Amino acid sequence: MSNDITNLRKFVSPEIIFGAGARKSVGNYAKTFGAKKVFLVSDPGVVEAGWLADIAGCLEEEGIEYVTFTQVSPNPRSEEVMLGAQLYQEHQCNVIVAVGGGSPMDCAKGVGIVSANGKNILDYEGIDTIDLPIPPLIFIPTTAGTSADVSQFAIISDQVDKVKISIVSKAVVPDVALIDPETTLTMDPFLSACTGVDALVHAVEAFVSTGAGPLTDMHALDGMRLINENLVALVANPADLQLREQVMLGSMKAGLAFSNAILGAVHAMSHSLGGYLDLPHGLCNAMLLEHVINFNYRDAEDRFKVVAQTLGIDIRGMTSNQVRERLIRQVIDLKQQVGLSQKLAASGVSMTDIPMLSEHAISDPCILTNPRRSSKRDVEVVYEEAL
Ligand SMILES: [Fe+2]
Repeated sequence: MSNDITNLRKFVSPEIIFGAGARKSVGNYAKTFGAKKVFLVSDPGVVEAGWLADIAGCLEEEGIEYVTFTQVSPNPRSEEVMLGAQLYQEHQCNVIVAVGGGSPMDCAKGVGIVSANGKNILDYEGIDTIDLPIPPLIFIPTTAGTSADVSQFAIISDQVDKVKISIVSKAVVPDVALIDPETTLTMDPFLSACTGVDALVHAVEAFVSTGAGPLTDMHALDGMRLINENLVALVANPADLQLREQVMLGSMKAGLAFSNAILGAVHAMSHSLGGYLDLPHGLCNAMLLEHVINFNYRDAEDRFKVVAQTLGIDIRGMTSNQVRERLIRQVIDLKQQVGLSQKLAASGVSMTDIPMLSEHAISDPCILTNPRRSSKRDVEVVYEEAL
């Protein structure tokens, strides 16, 4: 057995309650954490879908006081985090509950960081930059994809520099994730497709990551299989709770994998793109996925062969090149079937934006675990191919 420290792997995860109705235990968990006043974070879409009122009702049943904060944009902004942290302190809250997609959950993580550590949220960019523990976080995801409810990532948008910053720290792994497939019934087909493809990308990037290992591989492969087998049917049948459950389980597993194995160039490039153009995160990933697979393939051939098999491709008798082409075709087909065939140019990217987008992408922490080392020029070429 090798004593090489680079072979060591860690695995962090929240306490997870999974299944229809899981959200209803929020009051109990808040009590367990000694909640005097809960800071309840959500966003306008989730309020409209009725989930904020639903969770507030659960807290009321347990006699727990709360303050709501819903001024969160689709890509949560640093100003929103700072405003939230100010309100958290003014109201003397001591537990944070987030209900929603990645945006309210990432904003809630930011509120936790700033309320405990001071300074501006943008000062915490990077890996392991948080000194003091943050308040208890109880997260209830209403989308099946972002996995902010299980991950050690928080992504915050800096509107001044038009970039997204990544904060990666064990401190932002929630204490409890109440993963309830019923909450995803209110997602429209486009959001279901975007978040589902995001989850697929999490699983693929985690599996080919240089940080992958036996603790994460099983989750990455299960996640890939569950999303691949159920996402197309789900987008066609959005009211099917059984399909919702399978995709949510896949998303959760992909989340556990990527939180611990980290990601790769799709996410590094997608963060750069989403920061610049304020586009949906899953759509950004979808526009880049096959191009990054094409770029990475030669440096992780064996791993990509397993990805292909997990996505149902019979690779027997195929040359490595044929596997690469077949895998890329499969990804393009899946995207087409869920309605995400948009290209970068149609989303507002022009050739002249690419050097700046690439500059930001190569400084994103996710690029560090990409299986193929990537120069700025490499990343430019991938963006150009995706244009
Ligand atoms: Fe993602």
